[in-house]
Amino acid sequence: GTADLDLVAGLLRDVPDFPTPGIRFWDLSAMLADGPGLAATTRLLAAATAEPPDVVVGIEARGFLLGAAVAHSLGLGVVAVRKQGKLPVVAASRSYDLEYGSATLELPAGVIRPGARALLVDDVLATGGTAAAACALVEGAGAAVAAVSVVLELPTLEGRARLGEHPVHALLTR
Ligand code: PRP
Ligand code: MG
Repeated sequence: GTADLDLVAGLLRDVPDFPTPGIRFWDLSAMLADGPGLAATTRLLAAATAEPPDVVVGIEARGFLLGAAVAHSLGLGVVAVRKQGKLPVVAASRSYDLEYGSATLELPAGVIRPGARALLVDDVLATGGTAAAACALVEGAGAAVAAVSVVLELPTLEGRARLGEHPVHALLTR
């Protein structure tokens, strides 16, 4: 509810010019370190879909912490979509451009059931490149994206448009 949202909003901080000049970096460390703050964030992220999903997908790196919390709260498992080179057995890879630089994400092989409805979790939706790549990986495995749930959406970067028809659930916009 509103109390949860106010609590979460008060625990976020932005840092100018990190990791490069001109980028405003949203740091969720204080929220993650706060018990009630993490619980409120988890409740809100887990409420992204009317129907419960079948599995949660957390996106490296900050999406791991939130994704595992959301999965546990829903009684579900979590799948870690990882940066390239970390997984021993890979289902597929997907490259994308970032606000700063570029990267490749990979889905572990054999852990997403075809036909499953996946809830993707990350901290921030900026340009949407990261989330779009994760959606493509999930769909490439024959699963469906139930929603993309993030703490923070930066609407000026138009990430939502890049995600097409996928439902985006953002707790806050900045
Ligand atoms: C940040 C953030 C999101 C992504 C959003 O992650 O945690 O995952 O960027 O940007 P986008 O919408 O423009 O793709 P980053 O790639 O910095 O890596 P990290 O989470 O591993 O620190
Ligand atoms: Mg990230």
